[in-house]
Amino acid sequence: MKKPIGIFDSGVGGLTVYRAIRNAFPEEDLVYFGDTARVPYGPKSPNTIIEYSVQNARFLLQQGIKTLIVACNTSSSVAIPHLRELTDIPIIGVIDPGSEVAVRSSQSGRIGVIGTEGTIRSGAYSKAITLRNPQAEVFTKPCPLFVPIVEEGWQDHSIARQVVEEYLGSMKDLSIDTLVLGCTHYPLLSHVIQSYMGDSVKLVDSADAITLHLSSLLPPEHDGKPGKDSFYVSDNEDKFASIASRILNNPMKNLKRVRLFESWFID
Ligand code: DGL
Repeated sequence: MKKPIGIFDSGVGGLTVYRAIRNAFPEEDLVYFGDTARVPYGPKSPNTIIEYSVQNARFLLQQGIKTLIVACNTSSSVAIPHLRELTDIPIIGVIDPGSEVAVRSSQSGRIGVIGTEGTIRSGAYSKAITLRNPQAEVFTKPCPLFVPIVEEGWQDHSIARQVVEEYLGSMKDLSIDTLVLGCTHYPLLSHVIQSYMGDSVKLVDSADAITLHLSSLLPPEHDGKPGKDSFYVSDNEDKFASIASRILNNPMKNLKRVRLFESWFID
């Protein structure tokens, strides 16, 4: 009997992580939870983010998962030690794998990090990067408007380019050679960010970084059967399904809503 890998995010953006894991592990069963009732996490306080993350993890643990992936950067930046108190299964957040890849990729040690207000305020990426390279100089910038632009499907709209220029103008003058996309939604804007920052800046996508890390941890399932997917959200299934089908280039199947009660149950 295969046990699934659990993935949670504040909403739909974590599907960038789901997509990378699904491609790398075609035979694994995956269960995804998006907390669409309480998104966004980015502007919320650390205590609230921890409380929500613990509830999300509890729900996935009830589904019998063998590994927990915290796709949400904002949750990963504050909640991982609290989640470790719930279970002995491996828990992987995006901060350490993303920082590892950034430090390996940077020649100059000048590394930019962009993310939600919560992620940047936590200082988690700066800590994780300088732990790995004490000489590194880390420059951070919250970019809160990137999330609604992606959710609106405006990645190729001129507004996306304007907002990227506005947020990253100061970053562009800092001679960084690596930029961590420290938020689930940002890989969906990577073409705009890359074209603005130029080819000399390497973008680090936390979805790829976490998949690489997972590969080193997990012996792959080899039973010849394609992995199954289950998706759960806490609200607005239709909106989730419509954005999800854009991200995944496929209509969303096996999507259910769970109710936010003390003991969670599937609708
Ligand atoms: N998933 C969040 C993250 O990666 C972005 C959206 C939110 O603010 O909840 O930080």
